[in-house]
Amino acid sequence: MAIFTRIIRKSTLVLTSILAFSSCADSSSNEFGEEMSGEKLYAQKCTSCHGKKGNLGVSGAADLSTSTKSLEEKIEFIQKGSSNGVMQPYGENFGGSLNDSQIQKLAEYIETLKN
Ligand code: HEC
Repeated sequence: MAIFTRIIRKSTLVLTSILAFSSCADSSSNEFGEEMSGEKLYAQKCTSCHGKKGNLGVSGAADLSTSTKSLEEKIEFIQKGSSNGVMQPYGENFGGSLNDSQIQKLAEYIETLKN
């Protein structure tokens, strides 16, 4: 029996470290506590729909490389999400997890996707 207890203890330990690691990977700052760049935030939170270049279009995602929205409009859009509910609100005042400075960086990064 003792061997089973040990195996269970070991797997719990492995599981705990996996959980700790994945929650870390989802955080918006790196292991040094520095804020992530707009590029990294974008890669982590936005590419699933918009794609690396902004033009992937998954779930009807707008093509960011041809967006006509101003920087301010982009910021507002990212904060509030899309009115059809496909894109979630990211602003912390709207139930999201990103602060103003992170959203500013994201919007500035998106501007560089224009072609
Ligand atoms: C679940 C898919 C999804 C994810 C993830 C997503 N978006 Fe979107 N996004 C959309 C959809 C769909 C639209 C178009 C909605 C509409 O037209 O009403 C959109 C539109 C936009 C627009 C408006 C562009 C324009 O010109 O109309 C911006 C800016 C934008 N997204 C930025 C972001 C950023 C930044 C992130 C990551 C923080 C992100 N999106 C993550 C689906 C997504």
